[in-house]
Amino acid sequence: MKERKIYLYSGFERLWHWLQAGFIIMLLLTGFEVHGVFKIFGFEEAHQLHIIFAWSLIVLTVISICWHVWTGNWKQYLPTFRKDKLLPMIRFYIWGIFRGEPHPGHRTKEEKLNPLQRIVYFGILFFLIPYQIVTGLLYYYFPHWAKWGFVRIFGHTVKFVAVLHTIGAFLFLAYVIGHIYLSTTGETFFSYIWSMITGWEKVSEEE
Ligand code: HEM
Repeated sequence: MKERKIYLYSGFERLWHWLQAGFIIMLLLTGFEVHGVFKIFGFEEAHQLHIIFAWSLIVLTVISICWHVWTGNWKQYLPTFRKDKLLPMIRFYIWGIFRGEPHPGHRTKEEKLNPLQRIVYFGILFFLIPYQIVTGLLYYYFPHWAKWGFVRIFGHTVKFVAVLHTIGAFLFLAYVIGHIYLSTTGETFFSYIWSMITGWEKVSEEE
């Protein structure tokens, strides 16, 4: 089958993607160090880096929300539950992918994401990232809870919010592992990763 290249990811999307990936990986490393899982930076430094990357993620999230609303690209993430599109994709990921079958999705600039990606990315962008930011901010501003009246909701202990924030961290960890694995399942090991660097992706001629 003949192949051609399409320009799938704009400069902003690629920058956003890699910055977000870097921030989340650093937040996982420093967060789990603060949690006591391993020692890389030392507790005090891990704590400080966590706060720096947390604010960086917040600023990036605000900028990316503006960009997505401005360009209308947020609609790409709206889930579709059409069975004719969803079922072949689920079958591919639990069966076809291990037998070298071709990818059932057809990508275009207007419809970059397959139905499974839409559902998962929608969950990450619209729920998990805001959830982690809100629980992180509640954690950060714990000393002000009494003044703000939050003590009546959460009590005097930060434990509850710490547990909520840690649950979010485990969800991020699971997502990052799955995402990195799937990023290597293109035509070659690096082809998807390469297209997120250059913006260009190879598609079959009929797409
Ligand atoms: C992907 C994003 C994030 C991940 C994976 C993550 C992960 C973690 C983990 C695992 C902990 C240790 C929890 C514990 O043992 O109690 C932690 C602590 C903490 N996180 Fe996050 N976090 C993220 C984003 C944020 C954000 C956006 C903020 C906002 C300010 C934040 C603020 C905090 C604070 C204040 C702590 C307390 C520990 C410290 O003083 O460093 N986090 N985080």
